[in-house]
Amino acid sequence: MNDLTPEEFIEACSSSQFGLGLIHPDSREAYLAACKEVEHGGTVNHEYKGLKKNGDTIYVRETLAPIRNEDGKVAKMIGTSIDITVQRQTELQLRQAQKMEAVGQLTAGISHDFNNLLAVILGNLELIRLRGDDTDIRAHTDLALAATERGARLTQQLLAYSRQITMDTVVLDPNELIRNMDDLLRRSLPATIQVETVLPAGLWHIAADRTQLESAVLNLAINARDALPGGGKVTIETANICLDDNECAKHGLEIEPGRYVMIAVSDTGFGMSPLALEGAMDPFFTTKPIGEGSGLGLAMVSGFTRQTGGHISIHSEPEHGTTVRLYFPEAAEPAQPDKRSHIEPDVRSAGPANILLVEDDEDVRAVVAAQLKELGFAILEAEDAKTGLSVLRSETRIDLLLTDVDMPGSMQGPDLVDTALKEFPHLKTVFMSGHAKGAIANANDATRAIPKLTKPVQMAELDAVISQAIHGQS
Ligand SMILES: Nc1ncnc2c1ncn2[C@@H]1O[C@H](COP(=O)(O)OP(=O)(O)OP(=O)(O)O)[C@@H](O)[C@H]1O
Ligand SMILES: [Mg+2]
Repeated sequence: MNDLTPEEFIEACSSSQFGLGLIHPDSREAYLAACKEVEHGGTVNHEYKGLKKNGDTIYVRETLAPIRNEDGKVAKMIGTSIDITVQRQTELQLRQAQKMEAVGQLTAGISHDFNNLLAVILGNLELIRLRGDDTDIRAHTDLALAATERGARLTQQLLAYSRQITMDTVVLDPNELIRNMDDLLRRSLPATIQVETVLPAGLWHIAADRTQLESAVLNLAINARDALPGGGKVTIETANICLDDNECAKHGLEIEPGRYVMIAVSDTGFGMSPLALEGAMDPFFTTKPIGEGSGLGLAMVSGFTRQTGGHISIHSEPEHGTTVRLYFPEAAEPAQPDKRSHIEPDVRSAGPANILLVEDDEDVRAVVAAQLKELGFAILEAEDAKTGLSVLRSETRIDLLLTDVDMPGSMQGPDLVDTALKEFPHLKTVFMSGHAKGAIANANDATRAIPKLTKPVQMAELDAVISQAIHGQS
């Protein structure tokens, strides 16, 4: 069980009190109490964390009973121990899976409605900001806009945690991605924190969503910053790692043997207590003061990592610092260039084009229509797919169909697009969705290739995506 020979076991038991060297520090106090109870004649059934010869933790279930001498005094203890590590890990995984499932259902339920509300708020605020000349009004709208964006980010993080996010997966070079974050990291961390990157040449590539991966690394760096109130050092390191069965078993059973790229973010900060370590990845778990942490950072990082086929591990010691390691499966393909454009608001950049907007939520429809008009497009509106189709079939020229994904009625956004493209093969199409994943899950390749906007949509993004779809420019 402890990987010790009988001689080593006896040695370990006699060299320290009750063989405490074989007990994990977390369990020592409880273990001593159990031994005392047996000394006083009791029989104990208990579970504790033990240590293997190589220092790995094992979970043990044990029964201890006293042996008395002729005088009736307790002279020795006898016991049986079973290694229940695998059972424990499976239970933990099951519990985690149940939690994910519950949060997943909850978020899928609210995020659609929530994003629609945010779309209305954000769109209207942007329009107010454009119209208002008063600097006071502008300042207030800017604050409100920032809060709306934060709201949108929170929903995204929740969706990421429950693995419901729509991912734009590309093959990328993690070193390049981290190098490009230099500026962002420097702006997010104070000068008292030294940032070191260790990015060895020849790193394998991985298939992941760029924005999500950046946001994961940034979240880890910000956690590191918060653990270093007096300054210190944050190290971001990458490495190629081959995991065999043994090493996978060490990480729990979640990960398959194979070739992985590791991205590690370590700090020399105050570390986590065992309790914080256990809860750290739970959504809404935070030890930060109200208003400072939402407790979604690590939940997002772990959800994203697992959705990408990877694995996350946290190592932390109070007073010594923390290392969070992300493992992503190798993608044996060349990296694709970063195609995301840095969108600058450029109102009225697109020429007049006729856009058919299909959206069932009246308020969302009104605000998106107003945003599009502001951008110089001509808009036709439809409240459902059937009405949309009849507009398409009418005499009016439509250059682009912008449709919601989830709509009431038998015809959803993807069905509308399918039918429309069969009749009008040159029609340009863009999806707009509150939580894109569900309805597009069964999509064919053609539907999947269609650009997608996630509500709430900022005007600059709306402009960029629609112009690109119409003119094929970025
Ligand atoms: N590098 C670290 N050092 C010490 N403690 C950490 C570190 N990273 C995370 N933690 C602990 O884990 C908790 C959860 O982290 P998480 O990133 O999920 O949420 P948060 O940072 O509290 O809030 P949010 O990221 O949503 O703003 C933190 O409150 C903190 O107690
Ligand atoms: Mg955080």
